[in-house]
Amino acid sequence: MSTIVSPLPKLYENASDFMPLLGTDYLEFYVSNSKQTAHFYKSTMGFKSLAHSGLETGNRETESYVVVQDKIVLVFTSPLRSGTDIGRHIDKHGDGVKVIALWVPDAKKAYEEAMKRGAKSYLEPVEESDDHGKVIRAGIYTYGEVVHIFVERKEYNGIFLPGFKKWDSHFETESVGLKYVDHMVGNVDLGMMNEYVKFYEEVMGFANILSFDDNDISTEFTALMSKVMSNGNGRIKFPINEPAEGKKKSQVDEYLEFYEGEGVQHVAMATDDIVRTVTQMRDRGIEFLRVPDTYYDDLLDRVGEIQEDIEALKPLGILVDRDEEGYLLQIFTKTVQARPTMFFEIIQRRGATSFGKGNFKALFVALEKEQELRGTL
Ligand code: FE2
Repeated sequence: MSTIVSPLPKLYENASDFMPLLGTDYLEFYVSNSKQTAHFYKSTMGFKSLAHSGLETGNRETESYVVVQDKIVLVFTSPLRSGTDIGRHIDKHGDGVKVIALWVPDAKKAYEEAMKRGAKSYLEPVEESDDHGKVIRAGIYTYGEVVHIFVERKEYNGIFLPGFKKWDSHFETESVGLKYVDHMVGNVDLGMMNEYVKFYEEVMGFANILSFDDNDISTEFTALMSKVMSNGNGRIKFPINEPAEGKKKSQVDEYLEFYEGEGVQHVAMATDDIVRTVTQMRDRGIEFLRVPDTYYDDLLDRVGEIQEDIEALKPLGILVDRDEEGYLLQIFTKTVQARPTMFFEIIQRRGATSFGKGNFKALFVALEKEQELRGTL
């Protein structure tokens, strides 16, 4: 088991190759009830039971459930007692992403290269093994309390990681067609975006491939700035957002207030058939942001010919944008936990390698409508 070959083998030559990354390995969420959270992802988004670690596997500290859909592996972890660091994390941030794990050919080397360049250590290289081989992991901090764990699994053929057992469940649902993690976005404090751009450039060898300023991303009320960082093979993309001055509180400000710090704002998951994926997720209870129907009035004038029927996109609220290389279809869910913090994006790329700049305004107006309902605009 492991991840990812994105269908976008675009190479970014200004990225450095001292830290080869093969793809996203897994995302770990710290949540207050991992058992129920895993069930939510199975029932609403078509993830399948993969692995489990907890009391039944001899783990007295945490209860972790792992689910999978194609190349996407999500881990949900809760503490088994009070007074733990995970419990403190949940008390402060609510449910959220703690670990963005990266699949690497050599975890020790990735860690050493990062440390040499000024990274802050989270986990010194550790080798874990069981009957199925060995895995080496090491970790560093990025923005907020989020960490990157480098995972080397070339000598491992177990279900997930040593310490985990196969999770056999009598309840499985049909996949909704989610394929791989396209990108993961971080919200950082005002003035910090360029610090993290520097971190990804210097410590991890990433390149800044796109930038948006508050002229690109602003509405009547709020604004934000964003820079997209990519590794050399284009498989790992991390846009970094920071709030910009606006008349009211921006969506990034709202996130920072309720997450009580910097963290992962959204995870974009790719599909080959966005109409089917979004229809199924909606039928199973996922709520999506809606743009006004007028968005579709002049859509074809803006994006040109597309394969999809606009009448199929409209009732679902799916957005379309074009760049020099093709077009993309995308939609945001509403936030998926108690606090108005993290959400998902569903994206289908038909050639386009960008991020839907043409949709930002429509999307942010839709986001602000939600903020207004919460009284946090
Ligand atoms: Fe996105």
